[in-house]
Amino acid sequence: MAEKRYCLITGASRGLGQVFAKCFWDLGWSLILVARGQQALNDVVMTLQQRADQRVHIIVADLADPTKIERIAKTAISLFPRLDALINNAGIQGPVGPLWENDWDEWQDTIQVNLLAPAGLCRLIAPWMIETGGGSIISLSGGGATGPRANFSAYATAKAGLVRFSETLAVELKPHNVRVNCIAPGAMGTAMLAEVVTKGEAAAGNKEYEIAVRILREGVASMQSVAELCYFLATNASNNITGKLISAVWDNWEHWPEHIDELQNSDAYTLRRIVGRDRGLLWGDK
Ligand SMILES: NC(=O)c1ccc[n+]([C@@H]2O[C@H](COP(=O)([O-])OP(=O)(O)OC[C@H]3O[C@@H](n4cnc5c(N)ncnc54)[C@H](OP(=O)(O)O)[C@@H]3O)[C@@H](O)[C@H]2O)c1
Repeated sequence: MAEKRYCLITGASRGLGQVFAKCFWDLGWSLILVARGQQALNDVVMTLQQRADQRVHIIVADLADPTKIERIAKTAISLFPRLDALINNAGIQGPVGPLWENDWDEWQDTIQVNLLAPAGLCRLIAPWMIETGGGSIISLSGGGATGPRANFSAYATAKAGLVRFSETLAVELKPHNVRVNCIAPGAMGTAMLAEVVTKGEAAAGNKEYEIAVRILREGVASMQSVAELCYFLATNASNNITGKLISAVWDNWEHWPEHIDELQNSDAYTLRRIVGRDRGLLWGDK
């Protein structure tokens, strides 16, 4: 019989999180699904075909409330013997528009949900993963993590922080067989992107608005391919891949296991400072 696998997914009530839930469930994993909306979580559970040897639990919690993080971790520890994968997927768009016009409470909530909540969950789940032999932590990056994203300063700040946090945690957890990676899923026509259109062109800026309208119309990134990358990172197929930010759209990750030594000894697929000589500006460096 196949070994039992356990996963916790935040933001599993719709969008990408729901696709992750279905993918992992169909591949035999037991799940804990977290979001604010109880009905939406129940609806997701209803879509999962009943199986005697798998369990699915929901935890209704608001990640904007820092006191809920401990409850999520304690509940998970009480439900499952271990956690093979923690997927920090929940995210909010946050305030749209220039910083000085943003609502400050909304700005801080965005940092809480998109950065402090995943970091807090990792802090509580990592010792459990260490004790039980290892695991994989996967966090969803997003627009602004690798370059400025005007009119989305809270979102960009949180996502850049999440990537550097993950790189750092990856180093700390490497000796303990816990891997930590981030996924850049590419733009997807979910509720989050629809919000950009709702907030309007004046707040989001022409470029962001047009991209959102186009993607909602055409549907650019396939959420299924993001789920495949997430599953790869959750399993031993990606052994020794840690501390990386991986694009579901652009990176040839399926072949990375053939190049593990080079990958491990390189800062490729990480956040780094670009210096003048990298751009042919030879006057810039000493
Ligand atoms: N869509 C894109 O184009 C895009 C691009 C790059 C990266 N991403 C990232 O991918 C991830 C998933 O995005 P998505 O597009 O699937 O978003 P989505 O459709 O808006 O879903 C977000 C999920 O997070 C949950 N959530 C939001 N706020 C929460 C809170 N305070 N506490 C608990 N759960 C909360 C939502 O459930 P409730 O509302 O019920 O709580 C929902 O399940 C996010 O981290 C996002 O930043 C998305």
